[in-house]
Amino acid sequence: MIGFSNDWEFTPNWNEEFAKGNGEAESVRLPHTVKELPLHAIDEESYQLISGYRKHFRLPEEAKGKRCFLQFDAAAHIATVYVNGKELITHRSGYTAFRAEITDVASFDGDNLVTVRLDSTENPSIPPFGYVIDYLTYGGLYRPAYLDIREQDMIEDVFVYTPDTETAVVRVSLDKKTDISDEVLISVIDSEGNIVSQESGNAGGEIRLDCPGVRPWCPEDPALYTLRAEIPGGDKQEVSFGFRTAEFRKDGFYLNGNKIFLRGLNRHQSWPYVGYAAPRSMQIEDARIAKEELGLTAVRTSHYPQSHDFIEACDRMGLLVFTEFPGWQHLGDKGWKEQVIVNLKEMIGEYRNHPSIILWGVRINESLDDDELYSETNRIAHEMDPSRNTSGVRYLEKSSLLEDVYAFNDFSHTGNNPGAKPKSEVTTDISKGFLISEHNGHMFPTKSYDNWERRQEHALRHARVLNDSLIDGEHAGCFGWCMFDYPTHRDFGSGDRMCYHGVMDPFRNPKTAAALYSSQQDERPVLEISSSMDIGDYPAGNIGNIWAFTNGDEIRLYAHDRNKGDSPENFEYVGTYESKPYDKLWHSPVRIEDPVKHSWGGKAAVWRFDAVKDGEVIASRTLGGRADLRIEAIPSSLELKEGDTWDMAAVRIRITDPLGNVYPYAQLPVKLELTGEAELIGPDIITAEGGMCGTYIRTVGKAGKAELRISSNGLESVILTFNINR
Ligand code: GAL
Repeated sequence: MIGFSNDWEFTPNWNEEFAKGNGEAESVRLPHTVKELPLHAIDEESYQLISGYRKHFRLPEEAKGKRCFLQFDAAAHIATVYVNGKELITHRSGYTAFRAEITDVASFDGDNLVTVRLDSTENPSIPPFGYVIDYLTYGGLYRPAYLDIREQDMIEDVFVYTPDTETAVVRVSLDKKTDISDEVLISVIDSEGNIVSQESGNAGGEIRLDCPGVRPWCPEDPALYTLRAEIPGGDKQEVSFGFRTAEFRKDGFYLNGNKIFLRGLNRHQSWPYVGYAAPRSMQIEDARIAKEELGLTAVRTSHYPQSHDFIEACDRMGLLVFTEFPGWQHLGDKGWKEQVIVNLKEMIGEYRNHPSIILWGVRINESLDDDELYSETNRIAHEMDPSRNTSGVRYLEKSSLLEDVYAFNDFSHTGNNPGAKPKSEVTTDISKGFLISEHNGHMFPTKSYDNWERRQEHALRHARVLNDSLIDGEHAGCFGWCMFDYPTHRDFGSGDRMCYHGVMDPFRNPKTAAALYSSQQDERPVLEISSSMDIGDYPAGNIGNIWAFTNGDEIRLYAHDRNKGDSPENFEYVGTYESKPYDKLWHSPVRIEDPVKHSWGGKAAVWRFDAVKDGEVIASRTLGGRADLRIEAIPSSLELKEGDTWDMAAVRIRITDPLGNVYPYAQLPVKLELTGEAELIGPDIITAEGGMCGTYIRTVGKAGKAELRISSNGLESVILTFNINR
């Protein structure tokens, strides 16, 4: 496929003259948002436009005699596509891809004009609209577009599934213009390009390929293979896939027959300022954060199918995905439900080759029972994909269980009670799979600048639910709400229309709760302390118990007189702490009982916490030592790529002490100055909220360098230099 994301024009007000190609309009590239937005207090009306996109293009020489298609990976929310004035298609979902054949309307010699009328209003005739929604549904052609040039007789679709880890079963459908046979040749190819297995068969049926000795796809070794389908002497299509089985049983989730607990979080696909419109590198970065920083084994793409760049990254990283079609609590009329079925078919048709996807959500998130609709969604899902189980997320207990897995939003934990409800209290059929699809979230919104106690309790609530969901071996997994803070409608937010439900802030900076997740993995040492050890931030100066989030076995605590300096010999041993009450977790946080003896009027100590594993110190934190602040800047990458479309880098910015501890109350203004071949996204003066903030830069069509200076009065500036490659 050929990139089709550059050289578009945009108008926020669709009009006939624009549609005809007349007049000037803003030059844009995809992904594009119809409106750049502030960080706080977003007016959801502001992006609900009926806007227009257009692009002049010429078909390449090689297109002559072939068939041509335009593919849009996403258009939020109702898009009508015209080419050379002819209406080709109206697509009525903002979260799935669609294509329009242009062969009969395009000129193969001269200029062509494609225009898209895009309705990004909350049109009640389609999901997720019709009532309230707890997130924003930003408008735009927010994923890439492509030109696809194909043979007259072409492969329309290829689906491969693996009933066991050494067999591929392939379904191919053809779109034929002439009277050729249905024969297709299927090859399974490994990552070195070797053909592992080959079979001929007929399109329309199933073709089995034995593939002895292939590497199964699993989190530790997410081996990918290529499946090539070809019409002998004609069209060829390739898809990436993995050999794996995914099955929810009564007692949990099994990948390739091995039980794996789904330690997950929910992800919304939004970023500050650009909403949904972030390119490939940002999608991959989110998958990396989920896997490497948060140590997750699974992600739920609440509440809609997400970018293939994100899901492909999950395929490559071995992250398991629970995905679902768009919707939020509300069910509409007959026409609306017909669109639910269209959305389901589009989602499964589009995403079913991804090995990372292990479960389909075939019920509108948290909707009431509708047996007629959901019997149909289940039937279709199993027919289109015999290899995956179905589920549907509910807040209802004992609702009608038509799916294979009961996914339950367990918001029962309120601090001093069990973290999770037992399966028998929630489901009607305990022989089926069961998981927690959401917990916490609105039950305990927590900002990065909330006080230490609150951020600690936020993390502990996640710990309790996760721990208690592991107690009885009945939960297949547990997905916390949610990865990042997100903007929302007025009906839900914290006054500034934000839901502070993330374990990270919107820039992907971690709150304390992020450390609970990070500390569950064993790839790298983790140690975060839930207090700065400053008595002035606690009632009556009483810090009480604090917690270490670590994958070490125990914490050794040392303190010293702050006048003596930071060097290790000045620390005196205080005690060793190994109380790990959440013992079902991979690594319980360690409770450090009332370590601070310092009272009001006394002199504060400097504290050093050592996390010890197998007798060795694996990580250390020194708190209270230094008051001189500095700026820490963490770019997602310093290498950007211009080409088929623009690229973007995220920069996470934190105000820390010299030992790397974030100063959460350093709500300082931060100034951003960018020079060179890139552009800043969002404002150039921002505030460190909870000592943390961020920014984004985007490429502008040129190769070269860009320099970002990050400063705050009185602090030393940080300069980042980005290379923009072509
Ligand atoms: C759930 C809902 C999520 C989010 C969450 C907040 O009910 O499915 O979208 O609103 O509550 O805790």
